[in-house]
Amino acid sequence: MSDKLREAVISSKTYKKGFAVHMNLFSRIHNSAVRKHKEDIFEKLKPCAESVGGGDILEIGAGTGANFEFFPEGSSIIALEPNRHMVPYLQENAQKFPHVQLKEIVLGFAEKMEGIPDESVAAVVCTLTLCSVSDVDTTLSEIKRVLKPGGYFYFLEHVADETETWRNSLQRRFDKQWKYLSDGCSCSRETWTHLDNAGFSTVSYKKFDLKELIVLCYLMRPHLAGYAIK
Ligand SMILES: C[S@@+](CC[C@H](N)C(=O)[O-])C[C@H]1O[C@@H](n2cnc3c(N)ncnc32)[C@H](O)[C@@H]1O
Repeated sequence: MSDKLREAVISSKTYKKGFAVHMNLFSRIHNSAVRKHKEDIFEKLKPCAESVGGGDILEIGAGTGANFEFFPEGSSIIALEPNRHMVPYLQENAQKFPHVQLKEIVLGFAEKMEGIPDESVAAVVCTLTLCSVSDVDTTLSEIKRVLKPGGYFYFLEHVADETETWRNSLQRRFDKQWKYLSDGCSCSRETWTHLDNAGFSTVSYKKFDLKELIVLCYLMRPHLAGYAIK
């Protein structure tokens, strides 16, 4: 199938609606596999946000609100999400986890966050989203633009396996097909290279194999989690 046709399929309303239903279920499986790693990240969010004077936390590609349960008490969240069919799930999860305030839902893409002013947010968070954006470098430069100086960007992503591995060759072989299954997501992205070169003052991450993800999720087991400071 051509790239144009794939784009048409995954841009259709039916696909986007179906993907929101899928993510609402899949994020529970992923959360239970990755819980410890998320807890480690999200417990650091409050002191990091306070270190730059506090303020809103921006989540890019917020999806169904799978991270709401992990945000620290009192967090004020701006959720950026391009798929409008995620919105009912975002609102439902905001009600389910009232310790966080869903301040605003911005319908838009991370590559061009027009609604978010320069140096306006205390921290940026994203999980399983740098694999899906169409331009990682532009996304990272937008994240730097909206972060306050000294602000933290926290990420947890599935990434390419080490080169020369059996799984890396499978990831590259099936990347196009994977994009149909997962709304344009790439399973072979070397996200760490983009982070290393994005011009943050500090970049720190660890790679790990999320063994709990089995069967169909085999290609997305290699994970990367960490932070970057503007
Ligand atoms: C795999 S889902 C992850 C959702 C959520 N972050 C989670 O961990 O469950 C990827 C999300 O990124 C969103 N997305 C795709 N392209 C995007 C872009 N260019 N900018 C922002 N979000 C995007 C999708 O709509 C989807 O909600």
